[in-house]
Amino acid sequence: MSDMKRSIIITGGAGFIGSHVVRLFVNKYPEYRIINLDKLTYAGNLANLKDIEDKPNYRFVKMDICDFEAVYKLMQEEKVDGIIHLAAESHVDRSIKDPFTFAQTNVMGTLSMLQAAKTYWESLPEKYEGKRFYHISTDEVYGALEMTEPEGIEPPFSTKASSGKHHLAYGTKFFTEDLKYQPHSPYSAAKASSDHFVRAYHDTYGMPTIVTNCSNNYGPYQFPEKLIPLFINNIRHRRPLPVYGKGENVRDWLYVEDHARAIDLIFHEGSIGETYNIGGFNEWKNIDIIKVLINTVDRLLGRPEGVDMDLITYVTDRAGHDLRYAIDSSKLQRELGWEPSLQFEEGIEKTVRWYLDNQDWMDNVTSGDYQKYYDDMYKGR
Ligand code: NAD
Ligand code: TYD
Repeated sequence: MSDMKRSIIITGGAGFIGSHVVRLFVNKYPEYRIINLDKLTYAGNLANLKDIEDKPNYRFVKMDICDFEAVYKLMQEEKVDGIIHLAAESHVDRSIKDPFTFAQTNVMGTLSMLQAAKTYWESLPEKYEGKRFYHISTDEVYGALEMTEPEGIEPPFSTKASSGKHHLAYGTKFFTEDLKYQPHSPYSAAKASSDHFVRAYHDTYGMPTIVTNCSNNYGPYQFPEKLIPLFINNIRHRRPLPVYGKGENVRDWLYVEDHARAIDLIFHEGSIGETYNIGGFNEWKNIDIIKVLINTVDRLLGRPEGVDMDLITYVTDRAGHDLRYAIDSSKLQRELGWEPSLQFEEGIEKTVRWYLDNQDWMDNVTSGDYQKYYDDMYKGR
């Protein structure tokens, strides 16, 4: 399929994961037309895509996914045959404060994208043939797993991501594709609802959909409200590190470029109507990651390693804080041959270096200046 000309809308392309997906597709497929549809909320930043913004196969469109008419017209105008849908509100803490925005964007926005694609594709003589609606979701829809082995056990699987010094699983159960959805936060509840709508469009209208559920991503260009970039920046500036609860919660971490590679593979070779879980079999307790971050930032800044451990500040736990996420991605490995390419320690080193080397990017997003710049630029369009 990759030798065909394609016209693909990537929603949320100015965000963290979306910008890596847009960059990969624009560079790897010069014969494709890649349309980045993004509303540029606080989390969307076109500076994430400076290196590819002048490429002839790339177009940015500032648009709200909830604006059905505008999205439908864009699909017609660009003769879109593929959609990779990432746009969403993505931060659990924000969803606890403002659940309505999450329902609006993640549920109604996804429905608007589905209905626009349905209306456009059903108007064509070939209808759904050669089309793809690929919805990007999260492992958080499955709820939380128990920690049956608090000290950690040898994991039943391993991948490149998990084959470093730290090599533990914190329970015997993993998220598999057939598991019941049990979301706990307003964020995961809204994502779960959007996943159900995508499957409903497949089952009811025959829309060629694919859903993937991925574990926590880390890497360059992540908005510094999320654990890893927030803490790297705080350690640099010797600000307190607010650890929720006891720091015992477990997440399964994947380098963002490995997620983007999985999206590329699944978009082209995944089976219609299927769900694939994406993860690295790479579980870490928050507190252990935080210690790695402190040691790495200290070392790279020429400070004595570990001198900043006293920044760790235990604070009130997040409401409804899910204890453990752990993805079983063996279906994706078995059926499509995907594997993470980076060991966690390598990925963290690359990530810390990137944030330390790109302090301008960090200052820009934390001051909100980039938003004012682009608001002025797109005023009246
Ligand atoms: P992000 O918050 O960094 O970026 C979201 C992007 O969506 C931003 O560019 C924002 O401007 C855009 N957006 C928000 N509302 C919009 C709207 N109404 N119309 C158009 N654009 C809008 O998010 P992220 O971390 O890159 O996550 C991207 C997707 O991947 C989300 O669907 C998320 O649920 C999923 N996901 C994220 C992770 C993770 O660890 N970050 C893990 C698994 C799945
Ligand atoms: P986060 O990056 O918000 O991702 P998610 O909630 O989607 O997993 O948080 C990762 C983990 O780090 C999660 O268990 C909550 C915890 N955390 C803190 O302890 N302190 C913080 O300031 C933040 C943002 C997160």
